[in-house]
Amino acid sequence: MAGQFQKHKLGAAGIGGMLGLSMCITLFFPSFDFRSGESTWVGLDKTLSNGRVIGFSYEDPLVRGEGKPTTVVLNKDPKTGEAIDPPIRAYVYDAKAPLSAGVRHPSNMGPTVGKLSIEKGKIDQANDSDPVVFTIEATDVDGEEWHYVNNATVNNGWTAEAVLNTAGAESQYLIGRGKTVYITEGCWWCHTLLPEHTQDWQVFGTPPFLGDFNGEMPTAFGSDRKAPDLLHVAARNSSKEWMTMHFFNPRLVQPNSIMPRFDYLWGKTDANGKAIDFSKWRAEYNDYVSGKTVHPPEVPEYAPESEARALIDWVLMSLR
Ligand code: HEC
Repeated sequence: MAGQFQKHKLGAAGIGGMLGLSMCITLFFPSFDFRSGESTWVGLDKTLSNGRVIGFSYEDPLVRGEGKPTTVVLNKDPKTGEAIDPPIRAYVYDAKAPLSAGVRHPSNMGPTVGKLSIEKGKIDQANDSDPVVFTIEATDVDGEEWHYVNNATVNNGWTAEAVLNTAGAESQYLIGRGKTVYITEGCWWCHTLLPEHTQDWQVFGTPPFLGDFNGEMPTAFGSDRKAPDLLHVAARNSSKEWMTMHFFNPRLVQPNSIMPRFDYLWGKTDANGKAIDFSKWRAEYNDYVSGKTVHPPEVPEYAPESEARALIDWVLMSLR
């Protein structure tokens, strides 16, 4: 016995080595500055669409997606009326929407992007209590293209009101509120937002870059997957109709789906203000499933202020 122990003498050297390694990690790790990673367009789009922290906060104590910005798609300049082709996104913060992490702490966006956003973008002239509109602009630095956040209220004279009016209701998206719904509904128990560096790409699209996450809180990668990765889901399926049916009751489009129905995100009334009769809907649906009727009942059109609308806006606009 004693001989065998001696043969594998790991004791002192092994423990010493492990201790040494863990000390190196402890001392070395904090020297990485994650903020030195520069935000990509995707990272800026996320920080501007999502607004301030998604989770408990004073402006949204029940985590219902309150105090979030509205993302709009603009095809003309709200001030001059000139056409914008291709259309761009603008992010409208009303007086109740606190600024996002990226704008609040420009260093979160990386040294160059943060600097450009202050110097050219004038984001330091925005504050929580006044309405403000942001856009993402591109510029050339030493022959390379960089994106930064632009305070369009200061630089372009765009007021929040004019931008919303120019976009019209059909080009306004409640992306920040929709992401909150994703978090609070626990979609991440089943889905990930992170295709892996494996053959995954062929099905779910390319993995993200580090700079896609600057200032995003929480990130919601997900840790384990029981369902398809959603990072690029809207690139393979951009149908609002499919999403509507699938969220109301996944079995309408995937007969054996294990995904729960999220019909309660419709709230009490539909787009026309008519009360939604869920019991009647389910009774008709059961008739359809058991073969008594040929067609399933129609899915109610969701109301503009419903959580269903916000969730679908986020899925179709952010997950591309
Ligand atoms: C119990 C696990 C589970 C939960 C929770 C869940 N899903 Fe799913 N989801 C699935 C499965 C499984 C599929 C594959 C298609 C199907 O079976 O309906 C799917 C499919 C989808 C798709 C289409 C994916 C594709 O590749 O086309 C979307 C979008 C989606 N889910 C969004 C959500 C959202 C948003 C939530 C939260 C509100 C959610 N899911 C919650 C299991 C789940």
